[in-house]
Amino acid sequence: MQRIFSGIQPSGVPHLGNYLGAVRNWVRLQQDHDCIYCVVDLHAITVWQDPKELANQTRGLAAALLACGIDPKASLLFHQSAVYAHLRLAWIFNCVARMGWLNRMTQFKEKAGKERENVSTGLFTYPNLMAADILAYHATRVPVGDDQRQHLELANDIAQKFNHDYGAEFFPAIEPMILGPAARVMSLRDGSKKMSKSDASGQSVINLNDDADTIALKIRRAKTDPEPLPSEPAGLEGRPEARNLVGIYAALTDTDHAAVLREHGGKGFGAFKQVLADLLVAHLSPIAAETQRLLADSATLDGILHDGARKAEAIAEPIVAEAERLVGFLKV
Ligand code: AMP
Ligand code: TRP
Repeated sequence: MQRIFSGIQPSGVPHLGNYLGAVRNWVRLQQDHDCIYCVVDLHAITVWQDPKELANQTRGLAAALLACGIDPKASLLFHQSAVYAHLRLAWIFNCVARMGWLNRMTQFKEKAGKERENVSTGLFTYPNLMAADILAYHATRVPVGDDQRQHLELANDIAQKFNHDYGAEFFPAIEPMILGPAARVMSLRDGSKKMSKSDASGQSVINLNDDADTIALKIRRAKTDPEPLPSEPAGLEGRPEARNLVGIYAALTDTDHAAVLREHGGKGFGAFKQVLADLLVAHLSPIAAETQRLLADSATLDGILHDGARKAEAIAEPIVAEAERLVGFLKV
C-alpha cells in the first residue's frame, strides 16, 4: 500500500478551499491507502500565533478533520509538535536545501510581500520542514491543493540532493496528488486570488463553521459578471469568478465544469447562486455540528491526537535515525 502524508496549518478556521482542495480527498484516500494526516502547528508559528489561542486552534482543526470524515481507526491523525523526528530531519534539510531554491518559492514571496526583511526566518525555511514532514515517513503520495505544487517539487529536489550527497538511495520520490475540479478555490471577492485564511475580508472566505445564513449571504454577495452562465467550459475563459463558482459546484456534486454547464448553462447568477448556496449548506452544516460535538469532549480528542503521535513516532523514528547515521552523527 502506498503511504500518504498531508498536513494543514492550525492558523485559523478551515475553509472551503481546504475542504475541497485537500481534506475531502484525504477522507476518500483512507479506504485504500496507508494515510498519515498532521495538524502542522510548527508551520503555523512561521507567522505570529497568539499563544493563548494556538492549542485551541490545533484542537479545533483536529475536530474539524474528524468531522469531515478522517477516521482515527483507519488513519493516523496527530499534531506536528508532538513528534520530534520532524524537527531533526528539518534541520538536516535546512543544510541540504540551497538559498536559491527557497528564493524562488512563490508562497514565500506572496506571504512576505513588502515585509521581506521583517518576516521570520522560519517562513523562509518553511518548505524544508514540509519536506521533512513527508520524508520522515518515506511517504510517496501527497494530496494537497494546487498552491502546494511548488513546495512538493522542492521536496523532491531536497530528497534527490540528500541521496546524491550522502551516496544512498534513501528517500523516495514524492508524487503530488492534486485532485478534483476545485484544487484551487478562489476568493469570493477576487477571482485572481486564492481563498485564504489570512484574507482580511471575511466575506471572501466560506469557513467550515459558517451557519446557513452566513453561507447564503456570502454566496449571494460573491463577485460575478453580468453575463449568464455559458453552456460550455470554453465560455469560462476570462471569467475567473464564474469559473470559481462552477468549480465549487462541480466538486460538491462530484462532476466537472462541463457537466455543471450542461445543466445550468444559460441561467443567470441569481438562480445559480441560490442552488449553490443550498448545496453548500447541505454539505457544511453537518460538519459544523459534528465539530461542535467533538469539541465538547476534549479528553477524547486529545487522546486521539496523543495516540496518533505515538504511532507516527514509531514510524518516523527509525527513518530519521537512519538519515542521521547517513549524515555521520555520532550515535553512542
Ligand atoms: P493550509 O490552510 O495552507 O495549511 O492548507 C491546507 C491544505 O488546503 C493544503 O493542501 C492546501 O493546498 C489546501 N488549500 C488551501 N487553500 C486552498 C484553496 N484556496 N483552494 C484549494 N486548496 C487549498
Ligand atoms: N504547507 C502546507 C500548506 O500550507 C501544509 C503542510 C505542511 C503540508 N507540511 C505538509 C502539506 C506536508 C502536505 C505535506 O498547505
